[in-house]
Amino acid sequence: YFSHRTELLLKGKKVVVTAGPTRERIDPVRYLTNFSSGKMGYAIAGIAAKLGAHVTLISGPVNLNIPLGVDVVHVESAEEMYQAVMARFDEADIVVKTAAVADYRPEQIHDQKMKKQEGATVINLVRTKDILSELGKRKTHQLLVGFAAETNNIDEYARKKLKDKNADMIVANNVTTNGAGFGSDTNIVTIYKADGTKKELPKLSKQDVALEIFKEVIEILKRKE
Ligand code: CTP
Ligand code: CA
Repeated sequence: YFSHRTELLLKGKKVVVTAGPTRERIDPVRYLTNFSSGKMGYAIAGIAAKLGAHVTLISGPVNLNIPLGVDVVHVESAEEMYQAVMARFDEADIVVKTAAVADYRPEQIHDQKMKKQEGATVINLVRTKDILSELGKRKTHQLLVGFAAETNNIDEYARKKLKDKNADMIVANNVTTNGAGFGSDTNIVTIYKADGTKKELPKLSKQDVALEIFKEVIEILKRKE
């Protein structure tokens, strides 16, 4: 794909990518999180940079090398990710929300370590902000790509997210399938676009999935021009 083209297809574009899990603190020694490895988001950031974009990667805590030519902003919680994304949204052309943002956070973060007690305990959880939904409400010219991590009813849930979040594209994957989802170097995704079409892709490396996503993005951008 790169060698056959001399043009850098995303040259001059500002791309914001979020990746990884978020970490929601309970007390100084504990937190809530999920199994996201960040690999999909880092692949997307790397491919966007190779295609000539100016890339800002807003990353939750992961164990990966920063792709060449990518600016990184490290965040921990959903709230920090929200602030980092919003601060860069106006000037962005494309936002890819790969991050597995926690849907809930503990209502309070204890200053001191919580001591165990006899019997069960309860931690009250409250909702975090839905970053992609907020972007969908605020967008002017930006192209919005969301992900959908599902275990069942993928078609229904992906289409619902596309509509509810006002996204231009949702990349859905079944995180319980072998060779897809959390931690894997490969992914099996279906791309749902706002024009109602969908494209099922075979099992690909996360690099190649990233490339396929940008092929679709570039097509949408061309049609907008
Ligand atoms: N997302 C977000 N902010 C949140 C939760 C999710 O921006 N607080 C984004 C994710 O980055 C992803 C998309 O929304 O691009 C879908 O995330 P997902 O967890 O699959 O869907 P939810 O809308 O959170 O719904 P649910 O978890 O109940 O399926
Ligand atoms: Ca969620």
